[in-house]
Amino acid sequence: MVRIAAACGDFASLRAAVARCEACPLSKTRTQTVFADGPERADVLFIGEAPGESEDLLGVPFVGESGKMLTGIIEKGMGLPRAQVLIVDALKCRPPHDRAPSVEETRACTPWLDRQVALAAPKVLIPLGTLASNHVLGLAGSEQRSLGSLRERVHEREARSIVPTFHPSYLLRTPEAKKDCWKDIQLAMGLLGLAPKRGG
Ligand code: URA
Repeated sequence: MVRIAAACGDFASLRAAVARCEACPLSKTRTQTVFADGPERADVLFIGEAPGESEDLLGVPFVGESGKMLTGIIEKGMGLPRAQVLIVDALKCRPPHDRAPSVEETRACTPWLDRQVALAAPKVLIPLGTLASNHVLGLAGSEQRSLGSLRERVHEREARSIVPTFHPSYLLRTPEAKKDCWKDIQLAMGLLGLAPKRGG
């Protein structure tokens, strides 16, 4: 898998390889793989957890309710068109009934995400939620940390800046966390040289 991913020199060939992936049992239950939304190269890369029902049906990440929340963060908060940022999930297939992805499923999908990051060459990665944040920071098993201990700061890993924040579905359930999410987004905006558009 690592070799197949590394051999993909652009998004089109990587997308096609992901669509054929049978590295874990999620390949048997998916409608289709969910590769990415946005340009191949982007300054900002948002990384979610795994596709939900709407994403599995449409083949595009973050198109359901949490997608509307994410679009608001990008467009109203950061002042960027959603089409200008790249959005991917750590896992490319929907887990049945939206259960949490297993360690093995997450590990099996890692080469695809690593290759997406390499090709997109983003200035800033914004992992959304605990799973994506630990995953992107390379924290596994007993090294895993709570999101609370990872956010509100910039991490540097493999010469990339990483700004973990809340998952949009958490923000839908916990609107009072939006002001803390906004602090993270402002950190990312500072790295990108973007001026804040609004508070909260
Ligand atoms: N939640 C995610 O983490 N990703 C999606 O694409 C949709 C919901």
